[in-house]
Amino acid sequence: MSPLQGKSALVTGGAERIGRAIALALAAAGARVAITYLHSERAARSLVRDLERQHVNATALKCDVCNPADVRKAAKRVLHEFGGLDVLVNNAGFYESALLESLTPQQWDRMFHTNTRGPFLVAQALAPALRERKGRIINLGSLGGVRPWSSHAHYCVSKAALHMLTLVMAKALAPAIAVNAVAPGMIETGGKTSARQLAELAAKTPLRRNGSPAEVAEAVLFFATASHFITGQILCVDGGLGLAT
Ligand SMILES: NC(=O)c1ccc[n+]([C@@H]2O[C@H](COP(=O)([O-])OP(=O)(O)OC[C@H]3O[C@@H](n4cnc5c(N)ncnc54)[C@H](OP(=O)(O)O)[C@@H]3O)[C@@H](O)[C@H]2O)c1
Repeated sequence: MSPLQGKSALVTGGAERIGRAIALALAAAGARVAITYLHSERAARSLVRDLERQHVNATALKCDVCNPADVRKAAKRVLHEFGGLDVLVNNAGFYESALLESLTPQQWDRMFHTNTRGPFLVAQALAPALRERKGRIINLGSLGGVRPWSSHAHYCVSKAALHMLTLVMAKALAPAIAVNAVAPGMIETGGKTSARQLAELAAKTPLRRNGSPAEVAEAVLFFATASHFITGQILCVDGGLGLAT
């Protein structure tokens, strides 16, 4: 019933939306949960209070995943509080639309800093601790890392790079650490996407709807609890949208 009882997990960017759902799912499976936040301090504190009310050992840390010093400090604090780490979920990410011909180098770099360099820095800082516990790393990729979306070149390429980083880390950190990625399709998180766009994407999706944060969290929980023999996999959670686009 509690497959993660006695285990510790860290979810980057875990205060809201998909990251919050992942933190809740890991906690419901019995894990102690640390989340990082950048701007969403209130939401992060509120999630920690909710988890503590459910008798979950939880903590929130401010951390810019693009900043190596910040990442090292957060890693040290998590390890100090939990005494080790079993599951790292690289969830923090950035998303925006931009036409290829007007995309600036600054937009390109920001995207890569957050979506590719961030997960690399966090995984590198925590790999020694994860190795000690025969742990797992789960990266949040994207269907956009598998399919080319013409108004999201920098996003798609950053997520494709993260998928490759997942494969490289699965090999480089073996045999101690299993590394996989969950690649969501269109997930309704109450973000900026208009109701019309959401309806259009749902209509294109073979399962005729968009996904929920809880459905992405289920896939993360799968990799957090499945056989350690499963590594180097990219699991799309997209209702079949990738088949149709
Ligand atoms: N939503 C979707 O449909 C969808 C589809 C495919 C893939 N994904 C991926 O799934 C993950 C979660 O999706 P989401 O929509 O819930 O993401 P999101 O809200 O866009 O981002 C998650 C969190 O990342 C944090 N973050 C951004 N830049 C950061 C930085 N430099 N350092 C530290 N934290 C940073 C933010 O934390 P603060 O709020 O604290 O600043 C934000 O709350 C992301 O990796 C996303 O790319 C989502």
